[in-house]
Amino acid sequence: TQSHSEISRVKNLNKLQIGKNEVEAWYFSPYPAEYAHLPKLFICEFCLQFYPSLTQLTRHRTKCTLQHPPGNEIYRSGNISFFEIDGRRQRSWCRNLCLLSKCFLDHKTLYYDVDPFMYYCMTVKDEYGDHLIGYFSKEKESAEGYNVACILTLPQHQRKGYGKVLIEFSYELSKVEGKLGSPEKPLSDLGLLSYRAYWQEKIVELLLESEDEISLDEIAHRTAITHGDIMHTCQALQMIKYYKGQHIIHLTDAVLEQYQKTRAKTKYTIDPDALKWKPPV
Ligand code: ACO
Ligand code: ZN
Repeated sequence: TQSHSEISRVKNLNKLQIGKNEVEAWYFSPYPAEYAHLPKLFICEFCLQFYPSLTQLTRHRTKCTLQHPPGNEIYRSGNISFFEIDGRRQRSWCRNLCLLSKCFLDHKTLYYDVDPFMYYCMTVKDEYGDHLIGYFSKEKESAEGYNVACILTLPQHQRKGYGKVLIEFSYELSKVEGKLGSPEKPLSDLGLLSYRAYWQEKIVELLLESEDEISLDEIAHRTAITHGDIMHTCQALQMIKYYKGQHIIHLTDAVLEQYQKTRAKTKYTIDPDALKWKPPV
């Protein structure tokens, strides 16, 4: 884990205008040199093309016809959709997405080779189009069993529960694949907080649902969370007891209380029936 001051390269961007939101860049991102150090970089929120001035963005917007991310809409429920975008087919869009997301991700080298990845982009719809909220990338084939490479909620939409929806969606894809999955390491501080919160919620949910004891295998099978991630979560929460020669997962009052608070805040959960998806071959 890194602190915000240990940046690998000096931050080269100031403010970004994305749609109607203005945000501050957090980290270095390899936008072309002539776009760096401007007071503000203007980004088309649909095609993610970038411009040095509002005039140029406005001119672009009169010609840009995109109203949602490119690729296939594989999920829609309420005003939330997910689009699946193949890095190889939508190279320049995906490179623009990587440039933008690098502004908020520092802990790992971002891959400029977008071809080996699929991008799962979450949008919220209004009368103007499907607006990008966040995304995760996923290797088409992961030797390590990772189901997420990079995950991001755009800063203007953070702390509203969207990160949890992205994570939930990534595990729904793993369930369709019939695999267990885990995010690529290392996780950022924010990534770790969000994943721990998700794992905890899912495990507690199953413990509450099941009348009998539930095994580690069964939790893994039903959530697509790996045994390792389940064990670490339970250990961190002191939920593992050694009883009659066996390790037992048991609920504590503290964990239960935390769970009820989280549930009360939950606004949106993925509806598995609204997912129309087959693993890409
Ligand atoms: N402080 C404390 N807890 C937090 C914070 C925070 N800043 N952010 C998230 N959490 C925890 C909380 O438990 C939160 O639940 P709560 O709001 O009910 O308390 C839970 O995570 C989920 O929060 P969300 O609102 O669903 O998550 P968000 O939409 O903010 O997205 C994400 C989380 C994607 C990690 C976001 O912070 C982000 O994009 N960060 C920058 C990029 C990044 O670090 N990505 C992860 C890299 S690791 C990887 O890519 C595999
Ligand atoms: Zn555009």
